Amino acid sequence: MGDIAEDETTFYSNAKDYWKEIPPTVDGMLGGYGSISSIDINGSKAFLQKFLGVRNSYVSQLREEGEGKTGTGCALDCGAGIGRITKRLLLPLFKTVDLVDVTPEFLDKAKSYLGEDSKRVGNYFCCGLQDFVPEHGRYDIIWIQWVIGHLTDIHLVEFLQRCQKALQPYGLIVIKDNVSYEGVVPDELDSSVCRDLEIVHRLVGRAGLRIVYEEQQKNFPKEIYQVHTLALR
Ligand SMILES: C[S@@+](CC[C@H](N)C(=O)[O-])C[C@H]1O[C@@H](n2cnc3c(N)ncnc32)[C@H](O)[C@@H]1O
Repeated sequence: MGDIAEDETTFYSNAKDYWKEIPPTVDGMLGGYGSISSIDINGSKAFLQKFLGVRNSYVSQLREEGEGKTGTGCALDCGAGIGRITKRLLLPLFKTVDLVDVTPEFLDKAKSYLGEDSKRVGNYFCCGLQDFVPEHGRYDIIWIQWVIGHLTDIHLVEFLQRCQKALQPYGLIVIKDNVSYEGVVPDELDSSVCRDLEIVHRLVGRAGLRIVYEEQQKNFPKEIYQVHTLALR
């Protein structure tokens, strides 16, 4: 991916065209790996509970370090698709959840897919993350999963900076995504890139964020990329 504006426009429009053709299902969200959704959600739940839990040793440790417990008021699901994560991870833990995604068909589907609990969705924002400005101070958790590869380096850094401003006190940004073994691996099919962990760390640092906690998702199929979860603030 070069820095030329035309390349960038094509990078985003090709991704948009790709997702427009994908069925609004869990399998569609996960590129045919719908079967790993439960492992993913359970891993994410255990990860998040380290920060939200009332009685657990990690929260006690954070307190000792002068960090407070993350609130459970409002979460933002970035690149939310049909709301797979909103439904099973965020709505059960937070009072209100907002969704943002570039594909209008997915957000339309989310309204029925989320069922009764969709009453607690605050906003469905149809927007590319490269253009999205989350409301200042609104969110306890900003969850960004399987979408950072659709942003250029500069847009990712700038988006993370806007996310930081959108956090509540003790709020967290969580990135959960594929990491490559080495370097930047382009995917022509969906117009995305997969970065290695060192590059992701560098971009997070450029955004002025600190990694509070990080772990690798366990028990995913061997043939797919490693997936890492990073809590940032
Ligand atoms: C691999 S799916 C992941 C969906 C969801 N995060 C999940 O894990 O179920 C990628 C999602 O990112 C969305 N997307 C792609 N490019 C985007 C962009 N620039 N801004 C916002 N959303 C984007 C697609 O529409 C799609 O819903």
